[in-house]
Amino acid sequence: MKIFIDSADTNEIKQVYEWGIADGVTTNPSLIKKAVKKHSASNLKGYVSGLLKLAKGTPVSLEVTETSAEGMIEEGLRLFKLFNKVAKNVVIKIPINPSQSADDDTQFAGIAAIKALKAKNVPVNCTLVFTPEQALLAAKAGADYISPFAGRVDDFIRSNDNEKFSKTDYFSAEGKYGPDGISDDNGIVSGIDLVAKCVEIVEHYELKSHILAASLRNTRQVREAALVGAHVATLPFSVVKDMLKHDKTYEGMKKFMDDVVPEYRLMHLKNKPNKKRELGKGIGFSIGWKK
Ligand code: G3P
Repeated sequence: MKIFIDSADTNEIKQVYEWGIADGVTTNPSLIKKAVKKHSASNLKGYVSGLLKLAKGTPVSLEVTETSAEGMIEEGLRLFKLFNKVAKNVVIKIPINPSQSADDDTQFAGIAAIKALKAKNVPVNCTLVFTPEQALLAAKAGADYISPFAGRVDDFIRSNDNEKFSKTDYFSAEGKYGPDGISDDNGIVSGIDLVAKCVEIVEHYELKSHILAASLRNTRQVREAALVGAHVATLPFSVVKDMLKHDKTYEGMKKFMDDVVPEYRLMHLKNKPNKKRELGKGIGFSIGWKK
């Protein structure tokens, strides 16, 4: 599974690329807003160019802000033209449906924009996917990436049960029994269930799209996204860091460090007594070096 960083914060992006664990970046207007505020970035064009360079040729999703088909196509083409020359890694993010309510007349603009941008060879990440049916249509229209929002599905199911939860709380991939039986959203029992069904459909029909599990908020969701075969998972930096942590790792480290005998710590420096003296000072014990 590829790992993308779900962030527009250049410090976070730089760090995950330095660690060698990132295969791409996803941004959205909310993440850009947060990063611009944090970095007081007054030159947004320069800031975004810097971000693209940090991603070193791996895909970076930039989302459109227009909501009509024509608007999204034009904006997508402009963004691509302006920024793809920086590091040849721009992917245009198009919502599957840019409507903000069910009676809005832009219901079908997303699918039209995906098709039109692909016809111009612009890579597309179809975002805000909440059903396998939306994913199927996005794949048919040619989206390179399709982003089911796992965490927000879990929020929706939990809210319907009037459950109290915080955004990062784990919700079982198998769903759970609510007051009226198994809780679901039209047959989808969890965010990971949505990811799994999207993967199953694109793989069954050998569609070219990659399912990019998005809106993941805890480490167990990442594991489950990997286990159901998500092609990509995009992760907030906090989740990446949490993936490295475990109480027994800390405990094991403490025991190993307590048990280190000075000779073991110094044996790789065998023929460099001066180095050994320096190291001995730094590690807080007297090495009593014998010539
Ligand atoms: O990748 C989509 C993501 O940014 C949304 O995450 O946690 O706001 O649902 P969240």
